[in-house]
Amino acid sequence: MKISILTISDSRTFDNDESGRSIKKYAETEGFELVDYEIVCDEIEKIACALEKMLAKKVNIILTTGGTGITARDVTPEATQTIIEKEVPGIAEGIRWFSLQKTKNAMLSRGITGIKEKTLIVNLPGSKKAVNEILPYITDVLKHSKDMLAGINTQHS
Ligand code: MTE
Repeated sequence: MKISILTISDSRTFDNDESGRSIKKYAETEGFELVDYEIVCDEIEKIACALEKMLAKKVNIILTTGGTGITARDVTPEATQTIIEKEVPGIAEGIRWFSLQKTKNAMLSRGITGIKEKTLIVNLPGSKKAVNEILPYITDVLKHSKDMLAGINTQHS
Protein backbone atom coordinates (compact mmCIF):
# COMPACT_ATOMS: atom_id res chain seq x y z
CA MET A 1 0.00 0.00 0.00
CA LYS A 2 1.46 3.35 -1.07
CA ILE A 3 0.43 6.27 1.08
CA SER A 4 1.13 9.99 1.34
CA ILE A 5 0.59 12.30 4.29
CA LEU A 6 -0.48 15.94 4.04
CA THR A 7 -0.51 18.05 7.19
CA ILE A 8 -2.53 21.24 6.89
CA SER A 9 -1.59 23.93 9.38
CA ASP A 10 -0.48 27.55 9.44
CA SER A 11 1.91 26.96 12.32
CA ARG A 12 3.39 23.49 12.07
CA THR A 13 6.83 22.49 10.92
CA PHE A 14 8.38 19.02 10.56
CA ASP A 15 9.77 19.54 14.09
CA ASN A 16 6.42 19.93 15.81
CA ASP A 17 3.95 18.13 13.52
CA GLU A 18 2.77 15.54 16.02
CA SER A 19 -0.24 14.25 14.08
CA GLY A 20 1.80 13.93 10.88
CA ARG A 21 4.45 12.05 12.81
CA SER A 22 1.80 9.75 14.28
CA ILE A 23 0.48 8.91 10.82
CA LYS A 24 4.05 8.25 9.66
CA LYS A 25 4.61 5.88 12.57
CA TYR A 26 1.29 4.16 11.84
CA ALA A 27 2.29 3.71 8.18
CA GLU A 28 5.59 2.14 9.24
CA THR A 29 3.86 -0.20 11.69
CA GLU A 30 1.39 -1.32 9.03
CA GLY A 31 4.17 -1.85 6.49
CA PHE A 32 2.79 0.82 4.13
CA GLU A 33 5.18 2.55 1.74
CA LEU A 34 5.37 6.26 2.56
CA VAL A 35 5.71 8.17 -0.70
CA ASP A 36 5.30 11.83 0.35
CA TYR A 37 4.95 13.71 3.60
CA GLU A 38 4.28 17.45 3.24
CA ILE A 39 3.05 20.35 5.34
CA VAL A 40 1.04 23.20 3.79
CA CYS A 41 -0.77 26.19 5.25
CA ASP A 42 -4.54 26.50 5.44
CA GLU A 43 -5.14 27.86 1.91
CA ILE A 44 -7.46 26.07 -0.53
CA GLU A 45 -5.15 26.53 -3.55
CA LYS A 46 -2.05 25.35 -1.67
CA ILE A 47 -3.84 22.28 -0.29
CA ALA A 48 -5.30 21.42 -3.71
CA CYS A 49 -1.90 21.84 -5.35
CA ALA A 50 -0.22 19.57 -2.78
CA LEU A 51 -2.96 16.94 -3.26
CA GLU A 52 -2.50 17.06 -7.06
CA LYS A 53 1.25 16.52 -6.70
CA MET A 54 0.65 13.51 -4.45
CA LEU A 55 -2.01 12.11 -6.81
CA ALA A 56 0.45 12.32 -9.72
CA LYS A 57 2.51 9.65 -7.95
CA LYS A 58 -0.46 7.23 -8.03
CA VAL A 59 -0.54 6.48 -4.32
CA ASN A 60 -3.34 4.32 -2.95
CA ILE A 61 -4.21 6.57 -0.02
CA ILE A 62 -3.66 10.21 0.91
CA LEU A 63 -4.25 10.92 4.59
CA THR A 64 -4.63 14.60 5.44
CA THR A 65 -4.52 15.89 9.00
CA GLY A 66 -5.83 19.26 10.19
CA GLY A 67 -8.03 22.04 8.94
CA THR A 68 -11.31 20.14 9.29
CA GLY A 69 -12.76 22.29 12.07
CA ILE A 70 -14.99 25.33 12.05
CA THR A 71 -12.63 28.30 12.27
CA ALA A 72 -12.32 30.71 9.35
CA ARG A 73 -8.94 29.19 8.37
CA ASP A 74 -10.21 25.57 8.29
CA VAL A 75 -10.65 24.76 4.58
CA THR A 76 -9.33 21.21 4.15
CA PRO A 77 -12.75 19.72 3.21
CA GLU A 78 -13.38 22.51 0.67
CA ALA A 79 -9.95 21.95 -0.92
CA THR A 80 -10.46 18.18 -0.99
CA GLN A 81 -13.87 18.67 -2.61
CA THR A 82 -12.26 20.53 -5.54
CA ILE A 83 -10.06 17.48 -6.24
CA ILE A 84 -12.19 14.36 -5.76
CA GLU A 85 -14.37 12.75 -8.43
CA LYS A 86 -16.61 10.81 -6.04
CA GLU A 87 -17.31 11.28 -2.38
CA VAL A 88 -17.20 8.22 -0.09
CA PRO A 89 -19.38 9.58 2.70
CA GLY A 90 -19.47 6.32 4.65
CA ILE A 91 -15.83 6.58 5.69
CA ALA A 92 -16.23 10.15 6.98
CA GLU A 93 -19.49 9.16 8.68
CA GLY A 94 -17.78 6.13 10.24
CA ILE A 95 -14.93 8.28 11.51
CA ARG A 96 -17.33 10.78 13.06
CA TRP A 97 -19.50 8.06 14.58
CA PHE A 98 -16.45 6.34 16.10
CA SER A 99 -14.95 9.63 17.26
CA LEU A 100 -18.16 10.66 18.98
CA GLN A 101 -17.62 7.76 21.41
CA LYS A 102 -14.34 9.53 22.34
CA THR A 103 -15.40 13.19 22.38
CA LYS A 104 -18.47 15.22 21.53
CA ASN A 105 -16.11 17.67 19.82
CA ALA A 106 -16.01 15.16 16.95
CA MET A 107 -19.17 16.96 15.82
CA LEU A 108 -16.91 19.87 14.94
CA SER A 109 -14.82 17.96 12.42
CA ARG A 110 -16.11 18.48 8.85
CA GLY A 111 -13.65 16.03 7.26
CA ILE A 112 -14.69 14.36 4.00
CA THR A 113 -13.46 11.30 2.11
CA GLY A 114 -13.38 10.77 -1.63
CA ILE A 115 -11.78 9.20 -4.65
CA LYS A 116 -9.73 10.63 -7.49
CA GLU A 117 -8.97 7.93 -10.04
CA LYS A 118 -7.62 5.06 -7.91
CA THR A 119 -6.60 7.12 -4.90
CA LEU A 120 -8.65 7.47 -1.73
CA ILE A 121 -8.29 10.78 0.11
CA VAL A 122 -9.26 10.82 3.80
CA ASN A 123 -9.43 14.00 5.88
CA LEU A 124 -8.46 13.41 9.52
CA PRO A 125 -8.63 15.96 12.35
CA GLY A 126 -5.45 17.77 13.33
CA SER A 127 -4.68 16.44 16.79
CA LYS A 128 -2.33 13.57 17.52
CA LYS A 129 -4.96 12.13 19.85
CA ALA A 130 -7.62 12.09 17.12
CA VAL A 131 -5.29 10.52 14.55
CA ASN A 132 -4.16 7.82 16.98
CA GLU A 133 -7.76 6.99 17.82
CA ILE A 134 -9.06 6.95 14.26
CA LEU A 135 -6.34 5.17 12.26
CA PRO A 136 -6.65 1.70 13.87
CA TYR A 137 -10.42 1.95 13.37
CA ILE A 138 -10.15 2.51 9.59
CA THR A 139 -7.19 0.26 8.73
CA ASP A 140 -9.28 -2.64 7.36
CA VAL A 141 -11.38 -0.25 5.29
CA LEU A 142 -8.27 1.42 3.85
CA LYS A 143 -6.91 -1.99 2.81
CA HIS A 144 -10.23 -3.09 1.32
CA SER A 145 -10.61 0.22 -0.55
CA LYS A 146 -7.18 -0.25 -2.08
CA ASP A 147 -8.13 -3.70 -3.37
CA MET A 148 -11.48 -2.46 -4.71
CA LEU A 149 -9.90 0.49 -6.52
CA ALA A 150 -7.22 -1.79 -7.97
CA GLY A 151 -9.97 -4.09 -9.26
CA ILE A 152 -8.88 -6.99 -7.09
CA ASN A 153 -11.78 -9.30 -6.38
CA THR A 154 -11.69 -9.76 -2.62
CA GLN A 155 -14.23 -11.62 -0.60
CA HIS A 156 -16.75 -9.27 1.01
CA SER A 157 -17.40 -9.81 4.68
N1 MTE B 1 -11.89 12.94 16.78
C1 MTE B 1 -11.31 12.09 17.63
N2 MTE B 1 -11.38 10.78 17.39
N3 MTE B 1 -10.64 12.51 18.75
C2 MTE B 1 -10.53 13.85 19.02
O1 MTE B 1 -9.89 14.19 20.02
N4 MTE B 1 -11.06 16.14 18.30
C3 MTE B 1 -12.11 16.97 17.71
C4 MTE B 1 -12.55 16.53 16.32
N5 MTE B 1 -12.43 15.11 16.12
C5 MTE B 1 -11.14 14.80 18.13
C6 MTE B 1 -11.83 14.28 16.99
C7 MTE B 1 -11.86 18.42 17.74
S1 MTE B 1 -11.50 19.08 19.28
C8 MTE B 1 -11.98 19.23 16.65
S2 MTE B 1 -11.95 20.91 16.81
C9 MTE B 1 -12.21 18.65 15.32
O2 MTE B 1 -11.89 17.27 15.30
C10 MTE B 1 -11.51 19.35 14.16
O3 MTE B 1 -10.10 19.29 14.27
P1 MTE B 1 -9.14 20.02 13.23
O4 MTE B 1 -9.65 21.41 12.99
O5 MTE B 1 -7.81 20.01 13.89
O6 MTE B 1 -9.13 19.24 11.94
